[in-house]
Parts: sequence; C-alpha cells; structure tokens
Amino acid sequence: MSHHRLPFPFPCLLLLAAVALLLSGTTSSASSKPQQVQTLNTNNNNNNNNPAETTEYINPKLPPRALSTSKKFEGSSNLVNLRYHMGPVLSSSPINIYLIWYGRWPNSHKLLIKDFLNSISPSSSRPAPPPLRPSVSDWWRTVSLYTDQTGANVSRSLLIAREYTDAAYSHGSSLTRLSVQQVIANAVKSAPFPVDHRNGIYLVLTSQDVAMQDFCRAVCGFHYFTFPSMVGYTLPYAWVGNSGKQCPEVCAYPFAVPGYMGGGGPGALKPPNGDVGVDGMISVIGHELAELSSNPLVNAWYAGEDPTAPTEIGDLCEGLYGTGGGGGYIGQVMRDRQGRTFNVNGRRGRKFLVQWIWSPELKACAGPNALD
Ligand SMILES: *[C@@H]1O[C@H](CO)[C@@H](O)[C@H](O)[C@H]1NC(C)=O
Repeated sequence: MSHHRLPFPFPCLLLLAAVALLLSGTTSSASSKPQQVQTLNTNNNNNNNNPAETTEYINPKLPPRALSTSKKFEGSSNLVNLRYHMGPVLSSSPINIYLIWYGRWPNSHKLLIKDFLNSISPSSSRPAPPPLRPSVSDWWRTVSLYTDQTGANVSRSLLIAREYTDAAYSHGSSLTRLSVQQVIANAVKSAPFPVDHRNGIYLVLTSQDVAMQDFCRAVCGFHYFTFPSMVGYTLPYAWVGNSGKQCPEVCAYPFAVPGYMGGGGPGALKPPNGDVGVDGMISVIGHELAELSSNPLVNAWYAGEDPTAPTEIGDLCEGLYGTGGGGGYIGQVMRDRQGRTFNVNGRRGRKFLVQWIWSPELKACAGPNALD
C-alpha cells in the first residue's frame, strides 16, 4: 500500500481548513453583534419512553467552530461524490475495540466513554433494559448501511475487547502521528492486546495534559492504520484527545464556543454529562469510529480525488447534530430539565450529543433524532 511510504498521511482530518477561518472569524469579532438564541419549533415534548422526563427541542444559533472543514456540505447535496473504492469495511461481528488510555484518566471519565462505546450495539443481548430512543445504537445504524464489494455491511455490534492503561506516559506528554503508533506497538507487544487485523480497532485516547501533533490546529482526532515497520502489522487505529484544557472551543464545540463572540451570544451549550472535554470527545470518537469502520484501510468509502486527504462519512456532517442545522445552526437537539444538551440516549440512562453521519441511502446527513 503506497500509504506506507508517506511520512505524514492526512486521513480524516477533522477541521482541515485551519488558520484562515480562525483568522477571519477573529477579525469579525470587531463587529461583535449579539447573537440571539433562535429557538425553532420549541415545544414541551413528552414523547420519550419516559413520560416523567421533560425534554424540549432547541436549535440555537451559535458562532461557528473556530476551525471547520465541512460547512460546504451542510445538509444535503448532490455535489457530494462519496464513492466506494473497493477496499474492505469492518463487517465481522463484533468489531473489537482495543482501548488505550494514555496519560492520567479518572475512572469517572473512563466509565463515561465506555458507556458510550457499549451503547453502540443493539441492546437485545443485554440483560439491562434497552435505552430510550433515539439511541446511540440507532445512530450507528447509518454507519451500518455501508457495504463492501461482497455486500457485507459494517457490523452493528461493537465490543470493548481489551483495555490498556499507559499511565506512565511511555512516549512522553507530546505525541506525534508516528509516536502514537509506538504507543500501540507497546500495547501489542506487552501482550495485553492480540493482533486483530480482521475486526480490531485500536483506539488511543489521550488525557487533557497530552499534546499531539496538529491537535487543535488541524485535528481533534484521526484514524489510519499502523505501519508494519513500526508495529509489525497493519492495524486500523484511531486517536482522539481530551481538548478540555487545550482547545475546547475547537474540539469540544458546541460545549465551548469561540471566545470572540463573547457576552452577546447564547454561549456554549451545557454538556450532557457535565464535562466539556470528555463530552466533546464522545462526538469525535463517534466520528472516527464511523469513518474507520467504513474506511479502515483508507481505500473504501470516501469523497474527493485525493486519497491522502479523503473526505469521509463523518467529515461531511461535522457540526450537524439535528434537523435544520447549517448556516450557524447546529440543528434540533434535546435539552433536559437540567439544561443539558443531547441528541441520543445510551445505556445506564446516559445521554450523549453526537454529530450526524452521511447516509448512503438519503444522500444527506442523518441521525436518529431527525424530526420529520
Ligand atoms: C446493508 O446495507 C444496505 C445498503 O445500504 C442496506 O440496504 C441494508 O439495509 C443493510 N443491511 C443491514 C442488515 O443493515
């Protein structure tokens, strides 16, 4: 695979068009016009399974993310030429996640992220009561519509197969696109992790004190595959960082919004689990898992002509969380009585806000909280 020779591949760059947008946004701060909260179709809505829960729909107009790639694709477009390039997708069930916690991770944060990951599979096999709708599993359904050339769909089920904690910062507190592969090599060699080419995802999560090459300036997360020369194998992997201290207004949007909008705007939305950095990571993790599963070797589903900078099924819908998103609106999302914002429900009563995913059926961004 020719990608092996590229020293710095750029798959799935979350937030590509970096500095230009940031600068133009900063310049426009001079005119800091107060933004209004525009609430469309606001209603008190008891249509959840749980009638005691009062949920309202909101679609606030927010200042744009400090960095953004995909505004040009907002909503639907016939111009999006997402194509299949004949490579594999992750179709074996379940998809096995090998989780690497790099740095210092409080248990409560680990639990929150694991609750999200464990909410992706349909719940029938579990003893616990099924989550409320719309659920995280409903959200993943869009991803499972992608198939390979044999007609096999991306798997609907996903399992945390193993975990490994690298609390000693084995490769320092500043990682690069290459050294993150050494972190994975460590985990594979020091044996808690098997080599799972077929349906494994090696997911590296860095704590908020860990820097990563291009983090905040060009990416919030990325996925690729390891180089045999570094790890011994070609393994699909993803990295996502906790941006809570470094750049929440970039990578934990809309729970933090660019400061230049200051005072006048509606301000940031309240995160569903009370942690801007970790709640912000959840949507980025969802984005990367969706793209990795439909494009694990970067030769399956993507748009654009340049395989070194593919536009993938998450990139196309960045910043969209509900119906009516685009042009500064994030779309219709839910707000509970405590004011927490979410658009899907997970196991153990959890709520999450995850971005929408491009649907090959609708040829548009889609999510289970869509209002018809
Ligand atoms: C598999 O994907 C096809 C094409 O998107 C879709 O029509 C079908 O419903 C999917 N099957 C399952 C089991 O999800």
